[in-house]
Amino acid sequence: MKKILITEFMEQDSVDSISEVFDVVYDPSLHENIESLGLQIVLVDAVIVRNKTQLTEALLLKANNLKFIGRLGVGLDNIDTNYCLNNNIYVQPATGMNADSVAEYVMACALSLLKNIPISHSGTVSGQWPRTSVESRELGGKTLGLLGFGVIGKKVSRLAQVFGAKVIAYDPFVISSDADNLGVTLTSQEELFRLSDVISIHLPLTDETRGLMNSGSFNKMKKTPIIINSSRGSIINENDLLKAYKEKLIGGFALDVYNTEPVTAEFYKEITSSMNCILTPHTSGVTVESNIRVSQFIAEKVVKFLSD
Ligand SMILES: NC(=O)c1ccc[n+]([C@@H]2O[C@H](COP(=O)([O-])OP(=O)(O)OC[C@H]3O[C@@H](n4cnc5c(N)ncnc54)[C@H](O)[C@@H]3O)[C@@H](O)[C@H]2O)c1
Repeated sequence: MKKILITEFMEQDSVDSISEVFDVVYDPSLHENIESLGLQIVLVDAVIVRNKTQLTEALLLKANNLKFIGRLGVGLDNIDTNYCLNNNIYVQPATGMNADSVAEYVMACALSLLKNIPISHSGTVSGQWPRTSVESRELGGKTLGLLGFGVIGKKVSRLAQVFGAKVIAYDPFVISSDADNLGVTLTSQEELFRLSDVISIHLPLTDETRGLMNSGSFNKMKKTPIIINSSRGSIINENDLLKAYKEKLIGGFALDVYNTEPVTAEFYKEITSSMNCILTPHTSGVTVESNIRVSQFIAEKVVKFLSD
């Protein structure tokens, strides 16, 4: 019987559906124990991970039977995809399955930060009643700049247009007719930094995108934009982001992902309740609904792949 190893949280119904067909070991904390993972991966036909399991070349070299990696999410930066390509291991992300969750998160953050809700909230709960001191803006009529116009970027564009925002995007791999059909204008990175009131990042983490947003970028921003990052932390230089906020080059920021996760004390000691910011623990893609979709999708894919 084919052997499947699941190293992080997966919905139980989906685990059960794979277990009906294959021999499954489900240990959601296995990603924390590299030694045990190294022993268990040796004979498996498929491994299913979220983003905490680091499937490095050193680990994959031990996996003598591995043919399939299921990723319960989208980014593949925790998997050595070059090794997989060269060794005939199929990598299946759950493309699009948590996109609605991320897109709703982006809208929640854009609307909250334009309205300065984090500052209004902390002022109100501390008894200051900041009714006139906190300035508030609307999304309607503003320009939303999307860095990356893939599955999530496109979903965000549709939601933002409902609020009357103009959407522009930087993505050299998208053809302009695809963007035109969605009422979105493709632009250069420089133009996007210059024109946007809200900038949301939807890029994969690659050698080109690592550190893409840094003090050089913040200095080009002319409209004191809100910055939202729900893709990967290392795409933004966090020190430069905090400096840009202190220097009022940006009007606020929402981060779901960080240079180091869990976030370090060095970072969060810089955050105060008087800042227009929202910090979440890498949960923008996680909802009750998306967990079910992601798990069912990967369960179906692994069963089909290994049954064919
Ligand atoms: N925080 C979370 O919970 C969460 C959940 C889902 C996805 N994500 C992250 O969001 C990212 C985007 O997800 P998606 O489903 O939209 O992926 P996607 O692959 O559909 O879209 C990514 C887009 O980025 C573009 N791109 C790639 N390199 C680029 C570059 N150097 N410059 C400009 N554009 C470039 C691609 O052409 C593509 O259109 C994922 O890679 C993942 O890291 C995070």
